[in-house]
Amino acid sequence: MKKHLTLPGFKIIKQLAEENNLQVYVIGGYVRDLIMKRPSKDVDIVIIGNGIKLAEKVAEKLPGKPKVTVFKRFGTAMFKYKGIEYEFVGARKESYSSDSRKPAVEKGTLEDDQNRRDLTVNALALSLHPDSFGKLIDPFNGLQDIENEIIRTPLNPDITFSDDPLRMMRAVRFACQLNFTIYPETLNSLKKNKDRIKIISKERVSDELNKIILSEKPSKGFKILDETGLLELIFPEFTALKGVETINGLSHKDNFLHTLQVLDNISGKTNNLWLRWAAILHDIGKPATKRITKNGWTFHSHEFVGKKMIPEIFKKMRLPMNEKMDYVQKLVSLHLRPIALVKEEVTDSAVRRLLFEAGDAVDDLMTLAEADITSKNERKVKFFLKNLENVRRKLVEVEEKDKIRNWQPPITGEIIMKTFNLKPSKTIGIIKDAIREAILDGIIPNDYDAAFEFMMKYVTENKLNTNKK
Ligand code: CTP
Repeated sequence: MKKHLTLPGFKIIKQLAEENNLQVYVIGGYVRDLIMKRPSKDVDIVIIGNGIKLAEKVAEKLPGKPKVTVFKRFGTAMFKYKGIEYEFVGARKESYSSDSRKPAVEKGTLEDDQNRRDLTVNALALSLHPDSFGKLIDPFNGLQDIENEIIRTPLNPDITFSDDPLRMMRAVRFACQLNFTIYPETLNSLKKNKDRIKIISKERVSDELNKIILSEKPSKGFKILDETGLLELIFPEFTALKGVETINGLSHKDNFLHTLQVLDNISGKTNNLWLRWAAILHDIGKPATKRITKNGWTFHSHEFVGKKMIPEIFKKMRLPMNEKMDYVQKLVSLHLRPIALVKEEVTDSAVRRLLFEAGDAVDDLMTLAEADITSKNERKVKFFLKNLENVRRKLVEVEEKDKIRNWQPPITGEIIMKTFNLKPSKTIGIIKDAIREAILDGIIPNDYDAAFEFMMKYVTENKLNTNKK
C-alpha cells in the first residue's frame, strides 16, 4: 500500500510522526477506496493523542497554509487541500445508551477506534509513521471481506446497529454502491433491528437513500431494503406497489418490480438524482387508482393522483420542496404523454402542446418514457423504442419550426390589463388562456398582431366584462 499513499498531506504527517514519535493512521473509507481503486476525496486521520493539534501542525507546513476548521465539541478538525478534505480525530472509544445514537466518548487505542466502526470494510487502517509506513492494520479481516465482496459488522451486528441505527442504511448503501453481498448474520440483524431506524432523523435516512438511488444499479439496494423490512418503514408508498392481483384470470404486473426495472433503466442513461426520483414515483398513484373491469385492470389517472401524492412524500422524507419537486411532479404527470404521440396521424398541435407543458424537461420526459418500457419480449421493447424515437424526431421538428419549449404567449397580462383598463382579475386569466390555446392549436400564428386581433374578437364575441371605454 506504501506506494499508493501519495497525497501531500501524508508526506507531512509522516515527517511529523517521526519528529514527535506519533502513532498516526489513515483509516476508514479512504483506505477501502484505495484498496478497491475507487476515487476518494475524504481522508480520515486518526492519531493516538490530539487530533486538533495535529491538523493545525500539518496545515502549517502545507503550501498556502489551508484554513483549519475546528469542532471542539467533537475533538475533530479539518481542512481542505487541493480538492481533498482531511479530517483529524484522536482515537476514541464509544459507549452507547439504548435511547440515543449519541455515544459517550473517551480516549482510546487504535483498536478501540476500529471497534467502534460500522463495517469491516470501513475499519481498515494504514500506518503513517515512517517505521511502519503503509502497514495495514486489519483486525476484522476487512481486506478479505473486500476480496470476497462481503458487507459485515466488525462486532456483533445487533450491537453495532442498535448503537447507531443509521448504520443499517449504510450497510445497505455500501452493498449497493460496491455491489457486495450482506453477510447472513448481518442481514438477519438488519431484519431484527429495523424498527430502530425510527430514532434516526429523516434527513439522514434520505441522504443514504439518495446514495442508493445514485448507485449504478439502485434496484439492488431497494430489494435489500424491502427484504429487511426497512423500506416499509421509510417509504411505505413504494412498498404499496408490490404484488400481483388476479381476478377472473386477469392479472396486472407487479408495479414494484416494474418500477425498479424503470429505475435501473434510467440509471444507465442519467446521473440526475431527480430524474431517477421521477422514475421511482412515476407509477406511485397506481395502488390508489387500481380497478378491475371486464377487459382487465385499469389505473385511470394514476399519473395525476401520483403527482398529487408527491408533496406529502417529499415533506415526510425531508426531500427539497422546491423546483426539484416541481420537476419531479411535472415528469410524473406527463409520463404517459410521449406514448400518446406515437400514432402516425398525430397533429402538430398535440406535439406543440407537449413541448409547451414539458418545457425544458421534455428531453428528460422522453428518457423516462423510454425507461418505462420493460417488457420481457425484446422484440416488443425494440418496437416501442423505435416508436418513441419517432416521437423525439417530431418534437425536434416542431420545436425547430415553432420554438414552443420556452415560449411565452406574445400578449402578457400587463397588455391585457392596459388594453381593457382592468385590475388584476379572473378575466385576465380567461383571455390569456384563450390566446395561448389558439396559438397552440394553430388557429392563429404565434405573433403579436395576430394575437391582439384574436383577443379583441374573443372579448367581444364572448361578451366579457371589461372597462374599455
Ligand atoms: N462511520 C461509522 N458509523 C457511521 C458513520 C461512519 O462507523 N454511522 C465510520 C466508518 O468507519 C466510515 C468513517 O466513519 O468509514 C467515515 O464516515 P463517512 O465519511 O460517512 O463514510 P465513508 O466510509 O468515508 O464513505 P462515504 O464517503 O461514501 O460516505
